Parts: sequence; C-alpha cells; structure tokens
Amino acid sequence: MTILVAGGAGYIGSHAVRQLIDRGERVVVLDALLTGHKASIPEAAVFYEGDLRDRELVERVFTEEDIEHVMMFAAFSLVGESTEKPLAYYDNNVHGTQVLLEAMAAHGVSSIVFSSTAAVYGEPAYTPIEESADTKPESPYGETKLAMEKMMKWCEKAYGIRYVSLRYFNVGGARENGEIGEDHNPETHLIPIILQTALGQREHITIFGEDYPTPDGTCIRDYVHVEDLIEAHILALDYLKRGEKSNVFNLGSSAGFSVKQMIEAARKITGCAIPVRVGERRSGDPAQLVASSNRAKDILGWNPQRTTIDKIIADAWNWHQRSPNGYQERVER
Ligand code: UFG
Repeated sequence: MTILVAGGAGYIGSHAVRQLIDRGERVVVLDALLTGHKASIPEAAVFYEGDLRDRELVERVFTEEDIEHVMMFAAFSLVGESTEKPLAYYDNNVHGTQVLLEAMAAHGVSSIVFSSTAAVYGEPAYTPIEESADTKPESPYGETKLAMEKMMKWCEKAYGIRYVSLRYFNVGGARENGEIGEDHNPETHLIPIILQTALGQREHITIFGEDYPTPDGTCIRDYVHVEDLIEAHILALDYLKRGEKSNVFNLGSSAGFSVKQMIEAARKITGCAIPVRVGERRSGDPAQLVASSNRAKDILGWNPQRTTIDKIIADAWNWHQRSPNGYQERVER
C-alpha cells in the first residue's frame, strides 16, 4: 500500500514517515521544505520536493505513484505568526488542502488522516475539553485548521472522501533512538526552548506570565509524546481502511502540567540549572488547555505508552544532545 505523507519532512510528519516504514508501508513524502528538513527523510521513502499549492506537481505525484491513502501534516502552525500573516496561513493551509483534496477526488483516493489542533477550540468553556466543545478559534491558525476540517466534511458528501481529524494538544518528545526530533527556526515551543537553555544556547527561558488563575500562576498544558501521537494516526488509518465513518478525535494525555512544572522536570532530567526570568503574558495564551482523549481510546483503541512528562522531556533531551543545532549538522542524504 502506498501512503502519501504531505509535510513528511516536518517534526510530526517525519515521525509518521518512520512509523509507517517500520510497518512495511510504501511512503511517498511531499514537502516544500519551508519548515521541514530533507535530512529527516529516510532513504526508504520516495521524496518529492514541492508545494501542495503547485497543482501540476500534486497531479504528477498522484499520476506517478499509486497513492491509496493520505496523511496530511503540511501547514503553517504558529499561533502568533498567524495573527501577523493571516493571508499566508489561508493560502498555505486552506488553499494547499484544497489542491490536495482536488487531486484525491480526481484520482479516487478516498481516505485522509488529518493533522488538526486544539487551537480550533479557542479559550475553552470547560476542561477537560471534549470533541463536542464549541469551536471558537482565537487565531487565524486555528481558523484555517477549522476551515480545512470543514472542507473535508463537504468533500466527504460530494466525493466520498472519508477523513479522521486529529486535534493535537501540546506535542513533545522525539523518536527514542534520537535520529529525528524537533527543529524549528525560530523556535517558539516550550520544551525545545527549555532544553536549548539547558544546553547553554540561551541565557534563560522567559516564563510568559505567572499571574494566571492556576495553582502556581503559570499556564497549564496537556503534553503528548510524538510517538504516541503518531500511533493514533496509524490507528486512524486502520479505522478508515475498515470503512468506518469520518470522525474527529482529541489527542492529549488528559493531564495538565504548568510551565514551572515543566522547567522543574527538565532540571531533574538534564541535571542543568536552566535559568528563568518571568515576563509578560504572551497574547492569546489560555490559562489551561487539557484534553479528554477518551474518544480516541474508546473508538480507535489508542493506548498511549509514553504518558509521563519525564519520558517526553527525556526523549527530547536525547535528540537535543545528539543534534544541538538540529538538522544543520546532519549529513544531507
Ligand atoms: N511558554 C513560555 N515561555 C516560552 C515558550 C512558551 O512560558 O519561551 C509557555 C506558553 O506561554 C504556554 C506554554 O509555555 O503557556 C506552551 O507554549 P507552546 O508555545 O509550547 O505551545 P502552545 O500551547 O502555545 O501551542 C501549542 C501548539 C500550537 C497549538 C496549541 C493548541 O504549538 O500549534 O498548542 O493548544 F495550536
């Protein structure tokens, strides 16, 4: 079976590519390398470098390769950046998905596992957040992901393309052997910033606000290990292969940890001091985001194994120590 992984050179997509290859699947990666890294793509995958918005290229991929299923990770994903460049987010995320769905419809490819986000919910009315909660995104990023979900809903009715949308909470960690991991430029995510501080690449980490209505005043998030997250994608693929109906699932660990707790855990794991400063709140940060992942457990049979923040931080630390400058020092294939 051939699976197209759009965005397969990014942090999360690259972990999907490895797990699919481990399962013996044939994988075709399509990635524009805008935020992804060529060095993360294994030899065993077929690689097309290019953009989903390039209709000719997407058509060529579907013509040359015998694509049966799609996993879709290709998107811009920074909340803050999206508020400054909303049109770039609509163009890359929404238009890119439109071209992909057009090709799927034209070539009779009828299942897609889709990378969505907790940002579709906005500030939640209650926690843990269930899939039935209102979707009121507070950023263009969340809006575009919701628009992409809705586009798939209509494409199901019109063309019979079934989808599973997976709404991620805070993804962290890395493949256990440390060969791939998180490498963004600029880096904005908490765990890599903490670990770059541990490595001495930053003088300190700034905590964005300690006056939130939480026990220690810092924001609470729900961290999920990238390898567990990808296992849910494989289960979603199997679910669609069985002919099940389209669905939406949250993926988190159902446990919340504050920014201060994450820093403390990282100090223990790395043995480093990790200097801290307290700064202003970052705009758009809800105080608390914790998922209910019961639906994924009940319906997909998801059984995450790497559920402690210690495991998430330890695997991320392994990657950061092996590749302190990310993929830059990796040999290009
Ligand atoms: N934080 C700091 N200092 C930093 C970086 C982050 O205090 O230098 C705090 C943030 O304020 C936040 C927490 O750490 O409270 C986590 O921040 P991240 O940037 O790592 O993650 P977010 O929760 O902002 O965003 C993540 C994904 C988004 C997704 C969102 C949905 O990165 O793509 O979860 O909940 F939309």
